[in-house]
Amino acid sequence: MSKNFWFSIKKPLLALAPMAGITDSAFRQICRKNGADVVYSEMASVSALFFKPAKTLNLVRFNKKESPYIVQLFGNNPKHFAIATKIITEKIKPDGIDINFGCPAKKVFGHGSGCALMPQINLSREIILSVCENTSLPVSIKIRAGLKNFNAREFIEKTKDLPYCAVMIHGRTYEGGFSGPIDWKLIEQIKKIIPEKIVLGNGGINTSEDALEILQKYPAIDGLGIARGAWGKPYLFNQIKNKMGNCDFFKIKKIILEHARLIYADKNEMGKFEIRKHLAWYIKGFPGASELRQKLVRAENIEEIKQILA
Ligand SMILES: Cc1cc2nc3c(=O)[nH]c(=O)nc-3n(C[C@H](O)[C@H](O)[C@H](O)COP(=O)(O)O)c2cc1C
Repeated sequence: MSKNFWFSIKKPLLALAPMAGITDSAFRQICRKNGADVVYSEMASVSALFFKPAKTLNLVRFNKKESPYIVQLFGNNPKHFAIATKIITEKIKPDGIDINFGCPAKKVFGHGSGCALMPQINLSREIILSVCENTSLPVSIKIRAGLKNFNAREFIEKTKDLPYCAVMIHGRTYEGGFSGPIDWKLIEQIKKIIPEKIVLGNGGINTSEDALEILQKYPAIDGLGIARGAWGKPYLFNQIKNKMGNCDFFKIKKIILEHARLIYADKNEMGKFEIRKHLAWYIKGFPGASELRQKLVRAENIEEIKQILA
């Protein structure tokens, strides 16, 4: 993988957006194999990496097959960001490092991290510099459309001179949470402010039709970040690339079993619990889904999953 992979991927670029509790190594591998161009880790705390790194290092380790792989960091202490960046660069060796400026969750926002940083321009600049100065890897940021009366345009205007090379914009405000409308026009305007950086739009892309419509309507945007749309549909990335609608059950079954194998290989006994939510998402909308789900969530191993799906 070249040092700055961001500029060598064919556009439109399709990214698996970071999701705590979801984008583990197995899911990232499945998404990469099914068309995602780049995958993000679950968010990792810089303070945890600063004080007691072992558990967090385990959370963000990866398989080379996932590459290009980005580790996302969150926190609000520039010194912790500096040390965490060094640790991740040296011990994990991902392809890039991302900074979380978008999380609205109470335990992140409430501590002055994630989206709470956006209006604090000086602190945000200090954090971005702490990361950029402590790694040779490309640095990216993830932001929201804004919060209260603070707009993402202002954040970008006031940080655009810094050497981060990509930004993923979740086109909902802090107040919009996870279900408000997506401001695609704002994302397009931001690309115009930073034409030399990669700009990915994120939010509400759940089908290949959604993606193709947005890509056609806003051609200046370099690509899309997909989060919940990939739940039970890691093949969504390939559907978008191939401009296709459906995926047949035979293919889905193969993906489910491969996903289960990867989770079991990575998480051993815990794998059987971790795969459950994914199994429920995979079969959502299938005829007889609720009966199937009840059987699948009781499966003890891959062989049982295979038999139930057969
Ligand atoms: C369960 C869950 C966990 C998430 N965790 C993160 C995270 O760790 N870091 C981050 O920047 N965003 C996180 N997000 C936000 C997503 O990356 C994305 O911005 C948001 O879900 C909007 O995209 P969507 O409409 O495609 O789901 C998370 C979202 C969900 C639903």
